[in-house]
Amino acid sequence: MTVEASEIQERMNWLRTEISRHDRLYYVDARPEISDVQYDALWDELVRLEHENPQWLTADSPTQRVSGAPIEGFAKVRHDPPMKSLDKTYDRKDLLDFDKFLRSNLADASWDYVVEPKIDGLSLSLLYRNGQLVRAATRGNGEVGDDITANVRTIRSIPLSIPTDAPLVEVRGEIYMSREGFAALNREEEEAGREPFANPRNAAAGSIKLLDPREVAKRPLDAIIYAAGALKGVEFDSHTAMMRTFAQWGFKVPMWQRLCMDMEQVFGALDELEAQRHRFPFEMDGAVIKINQRALYRQLGSTAHAPRFARAYKYAAEEATTRLLGITVQVGRTGVLTPVAELQPVPLAGSVIARATLHNQDYIDKKDIRIGDAVVISKHGDVIPAVDRVELNQRTGDEIPFTLPTQCPVCGGAVQRLEEEVAWRCVSPDCPAQRVGHLQLFVSRSALDIAAIGGRMAEALVETQRVKRPLDLYELDLEALAEFRLISEDGSERRFGKKAADVGMALERARTFPLHRWIYALGIPGIGETNARTLATFYPDFMSLQTTTMMQSVADFYAALNKRPMDDATRDTIVGRAEMLAQSYPGMVLRDDPTKGIQQRYLLAIKPDMVKSVLAFLKTDYARDFFARMEALGINPTPAKQTTATTLAGLSFVITGTLSQSRETFEALIREHGGVLASSVSKKTSYVLVGANPGGSKFTKAQALGTPLLQEADFMALIAGEPVVPVVSTVVPEVVASATPTPEAHPLPTVAVASETYVQDSLF
Ligand code: IVH
Repeated sequence: MTVEASEIQERMNWLRTEISRHDRLYYVDARPEISDVQYDALWDELVRLEHENPQWLTADSPTQRVSGAPIEGFAKVRHDPPMKSLDKTYDRKDLLDFDKFLRSNLADASWDYVVEPKIDGLSLSLLYRNGQLVRAATRGNGEVGDDITANVRTIRSIPLSIPTDAPLVEVRGEIYMSREGFAALNREEEEAGREPFANPRNAAAGSIKLLDPREVAKRPLDAIIYAAGALKGVEFDSHTAMMRTFAQWGFKVPMWQRLCMDMEQVFGALDELEAQRHRFPFEMDGAVIKINQRALYRQLGSTAHAPRFARAYKYAAEEATTRLLGITVQVGRTGVLTPVAELQPVPLAGSVIARATLHNQDYIDKKDIRIGDAVVISKHGDVIPAVDRVELNQRTGDEIPFTLPTQCPVCGGAVQRLEEEVAWRCVSPDCPAQRVGHLQLFVSRSALDIAAIGGRMAEALVETQRVKRPLDLYELDLEALAEFRLISEDGSERRFGKKAADVGMALERARTFPLHRWIYALGIPGIGETNARTLATFYPDFMSLQTTTMMQSVADFYAALNKRPMDDATRDTIVGRAEMLAQSYPGMVLRDDPTKGIQQRYLLAIKPDMVKSVLAFLKTDYARDFFARMEALGINPTPAKQTTATTLAGLSFVITGTLSQSRETFEALIREHGGVLASSVSKKTSYVLVGANPGGSKFTKAQALGTPLLQEADFMALIAGEPVVPVVSTVVPEVVASATPTPEAHPLPTVAVASETYVQDSLF
């Protein structure tokens, strides 16, 4: 090895260790030593060196936490020794019995107790071979659990390697979500119109079961280690000594622990912990009392269910009953309407509660919550008060059912529910409640990318009425803006200063941004980046978006498709409309569904929800004003190239196996040509793109569903708009015959008759 090479390798080693050390300082010890900028510099250097020297890339590199590829399911792992549970009690008398039992069974021994918080999460096993994390698993039934290694690697408080010579170390602990992380995640879920999680435990469980580690990495998961499983080459006399070593190795261990000589001290510790429980960053459902001397564990053994050296002491759930006086409605930044319970104030878990969330209309309906009811409330995640249930036996008959208003309580605009969402939203783009949210979307990286306007600046611009509608930005006096003083959260003031000029420059640059960015910037509900890109393929320029002809035809088409009964005449009309649409708008490809044979179906790039949303938007004053001002400002973005790349429109793909180029390349190709990607095979999958050594479960699923398989060459042909005969296969992939193209096999565009089955079970 040359001197230079060994220096590079040394530098990479140093960077890995240093970044891991800073990860630990930040995620485990909560006392960072360097700034984000300094951290990023180390990170970027390591990424660059690893890229240039892939031969020295190691699995425990901090850059390798997120492995990338979604997985298809979890493999099973066997626990040795089994992961048992704990005997639990709500009663201190039982703890005295526990102590008595131990005294009679360990007559000659003496010991201490350790009291620790009982973290309310999911049990976790981490296996390290020669110091490297090789496997992470859930408890499952205690004997067999799920292999969640890829997901667990994304949790940054878990070390990927530990400094020990021991050939085998299995540590056990709990995956959890902090209250803060839980609250943030639920805010996001609600704003995205999705069902929020009931509590941090569910949120943690739901997150760790996601099949895409990249998604897991976005979830605020954490882990605390409090026990050992299998150990080879290392031993510990006491639990406390073991916890000290684990902490030195970089694990997060219980930050609160009391060593007690007898039961009196144990009860004292339990009182202390209970009094403080709401101050912990995580949910705690009780305390665990364990013997400290590990030598006694073996002597005591375990029952089928639990070891004998420990007990769980559980707290009763904290609830309060009060009267629901009324329901008000809040409008969030994305227009989501949230019903809020106005309560007779009642003390609960350390504070007085007068309001509690009711999440959404579904929640109210499911629990049959009515105004005037006696309701039971608790703090979900110990932070967010929520109404759990109604005391039905206290009903008088005078209670009033509640339905969300059909008009926005803030602006009076229309309220709409999008398919697949639980939330109702105010869809008026001009709603004052949504102004900040709109502006933030407008300046975001995927829209006009005005980096100088951060979250607080957007708020300030709206609050001071400088910006009501996003295009007001183009009319701002930049000199005055430079004098603008921003008050930050800590109360300090700073001038906007030079950033005003950056805003000006970014606005000018944005004038010629591609069409899809401007469509996205409109903030039409349900039109995210992907849909904006699709829409952009149908319009020659921004101003043509105003004309509703195409959208109206698509809407009519869908309306006809939903008509019952579906007689021949209706079918003819549908075919006619579809043909017309496909001819007028080349991007709108209609296809047979190759998987369904006779049960042909339509696949359109524009989904019914998009049509509804866009048409509703175009009818608003806001939209009219937007277009008029774009005209006045002389901004009319046109697509860079009139893309004809829609040969995959309406098709959904799953990729498996190794292809000639990286998976990302193929994913990009699919997206660029209007197709969509899925991580697993379902009824909706149009094709499975198969490379070498395909994943077993995708392949089996494709066989079971009769999903056609495409080899790379066929896929390229499909992209080129050439006819392709996919293989609907029961054969193994190595012998998939290369397809013989026949001209009739895939004529484009194809118009087919929608069958009843399709109408019922897919898009609608
Ligand atoms: S010791 C043999 N310590 O509670 C199991 N468990 O209800 C040894 N738990 O399965 C467990 N915090 O998942 C221990 N500080 C703590 C804990 C704890 C939470 C969980 C663990 C266990 C469950 C029993």
